[in-house]
Amino acid sequence: MDAEFFHLRYTRAVTLVELLRAAEGVWAQWEEVSQGVEDLEELEAARVRILGRKGSLTQLFSALRDLSPAERAEAGKILNDLKERIESSLVVKREALAKRTREGRLARERYDFSLPGKWRPLGKLHPLTQVRLEIEEIFLRLGFDVASGPETETEYYNFEALNIGPDHPARDEWDSFYLGDKVLLRTHTSPVQIRVMKERQPPVRIICPGRCYRRDNPDATHSPVFHQVELLWVEKGLTFAHLKWVIGEFVRAFFGPGYEMRFSADFFPFTEPSAQVHIRKKGTERWLEIMGAGMVHPRVLEEVGYDPKEVTGFAFGLGIERMAMLRYGIEDIRLFWQNDLRFLSQF
Ligand code: PHE
Repeated sequence: MDAEFFHLRYTRAVTLVELLRAAEGVWAQWEEVSQGVEDLEELEAARVRILGRKGSLTQLFSALRDLSPAERAEAGKILNDLKERIESSLVVKREALAKRTREGRLARERYDFSLPGKWRPLGKLHPLTQVRLEIEEIFLRLGFDVASGPETETEYYNFEALNIGPDHPARDEWDSFYLGDKVLLRTHTSPVQIRVMKERQPPVRIICPGRCYRRDNPDATHSPVFHQVELLWVEKGLTFAHLKWVIGEFVRAFFGPGYEMRFSADFFPFTEPSAQVHIRKKGTERWLEIMGAGMVHPRVLEEVGYDPKEVTGFAFGLGIERMAMLRYGIEDIRLFWQNDLRFLSQF
C-alpha cells in the first residue's frame, strides 16, 4: 500500500477516503511483516517499518494535515486506534519471542537447578562482644555509665594512683608489657577509674570495659590479652552492703536465679577491705570465682582529690572471658582467639 499512497501524496493532497483506505492496508502490512519474525531483532525491524520515523503509519499521521479540521479529527481517531492495535500486538509478539528465546537458552545451557545456591553466611558478634554488651546492658539499667580509656597507660595511672607502690609485686616487669620507660600496656581497666574520678565529682557511677594485657603464657585459663569490666561507684554513704547488693543484682541478671554468693577476704592495694567473690548454683558443690572487689582505698580517693571522710566507694573487676566461659561451659580460653567458625557460630 505505501508506494501507491505516497505516490498520490506527492502529486496532490490526499482525501479522507484515500487515507482511510491506506490505513486498512497498514494493518495488513503489519500482519505480513511481523508474521514470520524469528527473534526480537527482526520484530524490531518490522516495528520500524510501520511505526518508525519513516514508517507507513507515521507517514499517514503526517498526511492528516492535508485534511480539513473535521476530517482530520475523524481520521486521527482511526489512526490512533490502529496504532494502539499494532502496539499491543507488538507487545504480545515480543513476549512470545522473549519466552521462546529464554526457553531455548535454558535448553541449550542446561542449568542444573538441583545444585545448591551460593552460601553466604551471616556474620555475627563475637561471643566476647556479646557478653560485654550484655554486661554493659545490665549496668546501664542500674544507672551506670560506660567509660573507656587508653590501652597504653603510664605507670602513674596503671599503678601509682591505684596505691600500687614501686615495690609491689605487680610492678615486676614480668607482669606487664612495657613500651618504654614508664609506659606500658594496661594490666587492668582500673586506670580508667582514676581518669574518670579526676574529671568528675561524686557521685560517680561507671563501668569500664576494655582490653588488658599481662605477661601470662597462654594456656587453657590464661591469655596475655584479655578483657575486663571494672565497676566503680563513689558517693556519700556507700557501704559494703551496697557492694553486695550490686553484685547480687548482677549475678541474678547475668547467670539467672538460683545462685548463691560467697565473699572471702582478699587483697588489692586499691581496695580495703578487699574480697574475692564466688558463686555457686544452689544444690551444687563447686564454688566458681567470678571477681575481685572491695571498698575503694582512702589513698586512692585522696589521690584523685576526693575527701575520704566525705565519700566512700566500691569497685570490682571481672574478666569477660571468664564470664563467657562460665556461662557457656567453655573449657579453653584460647578458643576465643582462634577464629574457628565451628566455635564462633555456636553463639
Ligand atoms: N583491678 C583488679 C584486677 O585487675 C580487679 C579489681 C578491681 C579488684 C576493682 C578489686 C576492685 O585484678
